[in-house]
Amino acid sequence: MTHIRPAKADDALSIMAIYNQGIAERSATFETEPRHLDDIRQRIADVDRYPLLVAVDASNTVIGWAGLSGYRPRDCYAGIGEFSVYLAADARGRGVGRLLLQALIETARLRGYWKLLSRIFLFNNASRALCRACGFREVGIYEKHGQLEGRWLDVVIVEHLIPENLAPAASAAAL
Ligand SMILES: CC(C)(COP(=O)(O)OP(=O)(O)OC[C@H]1O[C@@H](n2cnc3c(N)ncnc32)[C@H](O)[C@@H]1OP(=O)(O)O)[C@@H](O)C(=O)NCCC(=O)NCCS
Repeated sequence: MTHIRPAKADDALSIMAIYNQGIAERSATFETEPRHLDDIRQRIADVDRYPLLVAVDASNTVIGWAGLSGYRPRDCYAGIGEFSVYLAADARGRGVGRLLLQALIETARLRGYWKLLSRIFLFNNASRALCRACGFREVGIYEKHGQLEGRWLDVVIVEHLIPENLAPAASAAAL
């Protein structure tokens, strides 16, 4: 039985390994350099600001993670989170990504975020399907947004509004 919980300091190595597997596959991100443990530790230390969740299987192994990072530094964008979600290769296609992303949306809602967004390579069918399944809208396409291995790649922008946090009084102060 898979369950989702906030990331803890002890999860850093597992999160790093899953992230670096995703980077090495060259289908999820423009990043090409492996992440270092210190990056992940820093991210876990910052969970009060930017939620970071892990999926754990029945044997207590971390099989995936999902987290938010800041969109832009301006105050007016403080309630917008950029999300990432990565699963270990052998954990994919079994509904775990959906569990993680749904839990991340709920955590973001409780924290006062009013929008989650990301950019996805057009050919990343699993990620696009996951986003659709979790209520994201495909906004449009940035053409030739960056190069990966010498190839210009387009990305599709996805967004998910959180209506409870869109009342006129909602403000960055809630975050
Ligand atoms: C993208 C990713 C997180 C999806 O998680 P997952 O656990 O495999 O997805 P789920 O099993 O929860 O499936 C969610 C939806 O996507 C669909 N889906 C999953 N894999 C798919 C694929 N390869 N092609 C098409 N649809 C797919 C499922 O059918 C489901 O849709 P449904 O509910 O309408 O049936 C996972 O494949 C992954 O970690 N990929 C590598 C890293 C990556 O690309 N991350 C995203 C960039 S931030």
